[in-house]
Amino acid sequence: MSNAKAAALIARAKGLHLPKDFVFGGATAAYQIEGGWNAEGKGESIWDRFCRRPGAVIDGSSGDVACDHFHLWAQDIALMQALNLDAYRFSIAWSRVQPQGSGALNPKGIGFYDRLIDGLLAAGLAPHVTLYHWDLPQALQDKGGWYNRDTAHRLADYAGHMAQAFGDRIGHWTTLNEPWTFCWSGHASGEDAPGLTDGAKGGLAASHHALLAHGLAVPRIRAAAPKAQVGIVLDLNVAEPASPSPQDQTAARHFDLAQNRFYLDAVFKGHYPAELLDLCADILPDIRDGDLATIAQPLDYLGVNIYRRSVMAAGTEWPPLNFGRVSPTGDYTAVGYEIFPRCIHDVLIYVHENYGPKAIYIAENGMATAIETPDAQGTILDLQRAAYYVDHIAEMERARRKGVPVKGYFAWTLMDNFEWAYGYTVPFGIVQVDYATQARRIKFSGETYREIIKARR
Ligand code: FCB
Repeated sequence: MSNAKAAALIARAKGLHLPKDFVFGGATAAYQIEGGWNAEGKGESIWDRFCRRPGAVIDGSSGDVACDHFHLWAQDIALMQALNLDAYRFSIAWSRVQPQGSGALNPKGIGFYDRLIDGLLAAGLAPHVTLYHWDLPQALQDKGGWYNRDTAHRLADYAGHMAQAFGDRIGHWTTLNEPWTFCWSGHASGEDAPGLTDGAKGGLAASHHALLAHGLAVPRIRAAAPKAQVGIVLDLNVAEPASPSPQDQTAARHFDLAQNRFYLDAVFKGHYPAELLDLCADILPDIRDGDLATIAQPLDYLGVNIYRRSVMAAGTEWPPLNFGRVSPTGDYTAVGYEIFPRCIHDVLIYVHENYGPKAIYIAENGMATAIETPDAQGTILDLQRAAYYVDHIAEMERARRKGVPVKGYFAWTLMDNFEWAYGYTVPFGIVQVDYATQARRIKFSGETYREIIKARR
């Protein structure tokens, strides 16, 4: 690499020196990469349905084909090996293995994950599985989806089936990915499937049932896979007031209550934050006796997805919370997230000091750019993304050295893919996907990440 900036980044990557047993991986999610949306008996999911709604996805696209990982999984495993990854975080498409979300399982769908898991193990990669990364079977949505308490029981049954099928081979089981986002973006703002616009009331109702699903699923996984490590992945942001004014401080606190503490307090302390319950007293969901005890299952790890900090001022989202995001001067990614490497250090300290999980994985961290094209040498010199990884991993390491038990880091994402409502317009990968040919190409950020991995002591 002749470019001086590139050489300087590689030198910094080589200087990071994480411990030998620190786990580095790549992360993906089923709907974003698999394609094969109706192949071999797969049922429809809420994302299959949502993408067909005009205007729902910015470029009118869908995950129907995506990266065709359903067919190209073996070459994708080879790619992970080429990147020197230790682990691969992926999700199971519920409607592929249980098309209606309840009742009969689909042996062909289970067969797909069987082959994937065996392929990963044969390649020396540790599978970290997520059971629910946003693709609820449409048949369950037709019965009310996350507003229906029964969905929690259906997810627990599905978790039990998966643990029976794969429990002998998977060490790390995540129940849910980002309940804050799929509940609020799916039920308050409607940006994500199922596209409901019910404000805070919708976000809270979906969230309570999602957390209940998590709590019911954990013992089902442990029963079938007693040696498994079980956790949940939350998207957390340290909230900062935009100014010292009491209004902005209140807004930042409300945001913290809604995005962070609602989930963390429930999972780690067995209660919802009293201030949030008071504030939202008129719109609370049906929280029954014993629910919080069910939710607060002992966990082996917490997965944290971190993309930014959140600077908050008084605003209009979501009454009665009334916060609004402020964008400080700085660099931003193609999805409008401020690039602020310290966010990863700060979120780790926040979680460690307030909740003390036994182990933490950074389950997602990465950045979107505009669509990239290779240069004359065939290289994608994504210097900004490479710098993002070096800077964020260095900030994570700063927190680890202060005693935060962070055990692993997963780059979002292994390869460019379907970025939900942004469609294919904002690549996030360390590997490029040419959707016309399905060719994969490791970007400069992927090479930088490989150097960070190789530099462990
Ligand atoms: C997270 C999601 C993941 C991906 C990244 C960019 O919220 O978990 O699927 O879309 O954002």
